[in-house]
Amino acid sequence: MVVTRTVQPITIALPKGRLLPDTQELLDRVGYDSTVVGNGTRKLIAPDPAAQAQYLLVKPADVPTYVQYGAADVGIVGQDVLREAESDVLEPLNLGFGRCRLVVAGSPEQREMDLRLAPHLRIASKYPQLARTYFQEQGISVEIIPLQGSVELAPLVDLADLLVDIVQTGSTLQANGLVELEHIAWFEAALIVNRASQWTKADQITALVSGLATVLDEQETETVQ
Ligand code: PRP
Repeated sequence: MVVTRTVQPITIALPKGRLLPDTQELLDRVGYDSTVVGNGTRKLIAPDPAAQAQYLLVKPADVPTYVQYGAADVGIVGQDVLREAESDVLEPLNLGFGRCRLVVAGSPEQREMDLRLAPHLRIASKYPQLARTYFQEQGISVEIIPLQGSVELAPLVDLADLLVDIVQTGSTLQANGLVELEHIAWFEAALIVNRASQWTKADQITALVSGLATVLDEQETETVQ
């Protein structure tokens, strides 16, 4: 009797927005055509039979949720979002793109201010958990004002004294007359994996992780040469 083993497709959650082009280019180099979602189509789920995969297109902040609950086996997400979400997922690989830093920012005059002596600061942030943890660790008492975006606006209209946000090129801070005051952390895009899928789809996930690692090594070698 011939036993044929059917390979279960893996489901990959992709982040909409800034990280999508680099994500799709990297996956393409490993043989996954994820351009069946995004790229002008409104499709949020599509199969890639040749790679035995399917893709979900989701908001970046939702990628860890899809992976933690197993609706996706793996996902690509910024570590900023991942650390904020504190999701229970595996994180086997940094992907080398989407590098950014989390900072405390404010007006140029605030450079002279000692945050440790300032009374009760209000801090606007899309990263309320990370911001709270940072100020707690510094022993600074603050009120966090959670926002969904355009965080740089908050100090300009006295919603907050300072902000905690990610900086990539620095152009948003600059365009709004703000400066970086304190560095908190560096982040980049990462591959995350559902804990159960790591075992139930071990072959497919191992192939994806090792394929990505090989391409990233090649890219690093090309950069050095
Ligand atoms: C992010 C971040 C900053 C900006 C930093 O916002 O929250 O506002 O990018 O990038 P830069 O240093 O290259 O200017 P995003 O563009 O995602 O929009 P949002 O404010 O609506 O969240």
